[in-house]
Amino acid sequence: MSTEILLQAATDVRENAYAPYSHFKVGAAVRAASGAVYSGCNVENAAYPEGTCAEAGAIAAMVAAGETELVEVAVIADCPSPVPPCGGCRQKLAEFGRHDVKVTLATVAGARTETTVGDLLPGSFSAGHMGHP
Ligand code: THU
Repeated sequence: MSTEILLQAATDVRENAYAPYSHFKVGAAVRAASGAVYSGCNVENAAYPEGTCAEAGAIAAMVAAGETELVEVAVIADCPSPVPPCGGCRQKLAEFGRHDVKVTLATVAGARTETTVGDLLPGSFSAGHMGHP
């Protein structure tokens, strides 16, 4: 049930995506440890590399609200198969989510794939590699 709520939040925020260059709108939602849901959409830029992904927006909203742990993620786009997060977003998700955090990838047409933060980025670089706790 909570996955449905998360997917709905991702679906809703996707409508606000700013994607005039790729025309590929993406919505993402994360449920934080408190239970609160934060959402984000991709925001592109005429200087292409300055664009940001939906996942980055959702994570930024979570951190801005004072939370640093995500416990579930949903991402949705209108594509033939559930949208795989880019490499940078996998690293961003791994910063704030344990390896067993469930990630639901979805299409507007209704296809879904379930994975985890750990499966999306095995062997990820983390603070521990710098000797930090
Ligand atoms: N995009 C996301 O927002 N999240 C993903 O998981 C994949 C790609 C965006 C970035 C860019 O605005 C557009 O999709 C096309 O790459």
